[in-house]
Amino acid sequence: MTALAWLAGCDSGRQGQGGGDQFLAKAEVGRIPAYPQRPGDAQKGYDVLVNRAALTCGLPYNAYAKAVARSKPRGAPGPQFPGRSGRNRELPYMLSAHQAPSGVELVSTNCLACHAATLDGRLIMGLGNAFLDMTQDPAVEIAATGALVTGQAERAQWRRWSERITRLSGDLLTDTVGVNTAAHSTLALMAQHDPKTLAWSDKPLLAPPPQPALPVAIPPWWNLRKKHALFYSGEGRGDLARHLLLANTTCTDSVAEASAMDLWFVDIRAYLATLAPPKYPYAIDQALAERGYSLYRSQCQGCHGTNGEDWRYPNLVVPLGEVGTDPALARATYNDLDRFRAWFRQSYYGERSQLTPALGYVAPPLDGVWATAPYLHNDAVPTLAALLDPSARPAYWRARRTADGAPIYDPESLGWAYDTLSQGKSAAMSWDECDQVYDSTGKGYGNGGHRFGDTLSAADRRALIEYLKTL
Ligand code: HEC
Ligand code: HEC
Repeated sequence: MTALAWLAGCDSGRQGQGGGDQFLAKAEVGRIPAYPQRPGDAQKGYDVLVNRAALTCGLPYNAYAKAVARSKPRGAPGPQFPGRSGRNRELPYMLSAHQAPSGVELVSTNCLACHAATLDGRLIMGLGNAFLDMTQDPAVEIAATGALVTGQAERAQWRRWSERITRLSGDLLTDTVGVNTAAHSTLALMAQHDPKTLAWSDKPLLAPPPQPALPVAIPPWWNLRKKHALFYSGEGRGDLARHLLLANTTCTDSVAEASAMDLWFVDIRAYLATLAPPKYPYAIDQALAERGYSLYRSQCQGCHGTNGEDWRYPNLVVPLGEVGTDPALARATYNDLDRFRAWFRQSYYGERSQLTPALGYVAPPLDGVWATAPYLHNDAVPTLAALLDPSARPAYWRARRTADGAPIYDPESLGWAYDTLSQGKSAAMSWDECDQVYDSTGKGYGNGGHRFGDTLSAADRRALIEYLKTL
């Protein structure tokens, strides 16, 4: 395997130190080295995740309460994580309450809106929400809440929040339910903040991120105990907590504000590194799984690592030509983001961390992989059975849902039950239907590549799937 090497311009291999360098290092594909992490308190990290809103802007609580009262009778807030306190106990798990310096109580979405999800009736911490709907313009709903806000202090808070989200709304949207734009909207946010002071600028200070926003899946958090770097091309290197803090820039407008939250994110990172994957909840044929394990060892382990107590994980970025999956995201991250990497390097976030992509995709650990469908970095493949048998991958598909709209887990194929369609979005009869269709012909939506199951017989594939259930 290629050892990590820094390309021309990085004089000593000390990444991201000193600032002001003319060149921004990129990485070679291959192994990602480990970087020292600041030790944190995992218990506190959990508390921050479930109780503290990291965003410093949001909807005034009074307006939120009125909106809830109007939309439906106030009932239970749905499934909850333990340990929520105060006002948070009455809010759905993806919202947190906090107080602005002006004393106004605010409600904001938290990390768990994207990084927790219900699967077969269980709310799972760290599971990416594969059905989050980012196809609707948030500006429309936000404008409607404006009528519910009263008083000067609340109005000022509401205006700050609504201006931010409305400004970003074009960069938040996707055209398919389930795929995410978080990486893209973070770039859009960088463009609106001065890198040195973090002061908000109404006018973008950088050319906008490449359009259209490419679709990305939300990776599970429990992989963090093994991963040396974050994100699909392994670009999030160095001190990982600072990258997590950047997930939170919407309303962070000064270095003082960012540094006041820095240690929260050190604790969050420590907590994420303790997370274990959820166990497969149905029966497993152990003899078949055993047979699958020998296939895994010969065909998969070199990239994805060993499993169990004494796991070893190689932290590899696999070159595009070898993995063969849709190249658009990796290419854009490698070729088109230098101005954002320069921003990062000059900023508080870049003091301890680097944005250093390699031209490929990280082979992720497969812990809890039964739960993380759809598969690949762009959510292109609805089940593991289809991932291992490329001839079975649907070009156009839609997740099947129950009468009340819930997606249906398929414990046989490991993934989401789906209908294969004969045509893509252009054939949809309504906007709503159009949003539900995954069309693998769109830019960044390709479902090809990762043909490592090609030579397996149908019986071998079944055995391998049985083994993957045990992870
Ligand atoms: C709007 C949805 C959304 C929100 C909110 C969000 N994330 Fe993410 N997160 C994502 C997506 C999408 C990715 C994958 C981005 C990529 O790799 O390009 C990601 C990646 C990550 C990763 C890297 C995982 C890996 O294996 O590489 C971590 C850790 C993470 N987020 C933590 C957080 C924390 C902590 C918060 C709250 C401060 C947060 N996220 C808020 C969507 C979100
Ligand atoms: C040459 C390296 C390599 C080999 C061999 C390999 N993989 Fe992968 N695998 C990858 C990479 C890289 C990705 C990420 C691709 C992407 O997201 O575009 C991946 C992604 C996956 C995913 C999707 C994970 C998710 O949550 O989206 C699964 C499942 C998977 N591989 C299973 C397997 C199995 C099973 C085998 C053995 C038959 C195997 N892989 C062999 C490199 C490899």
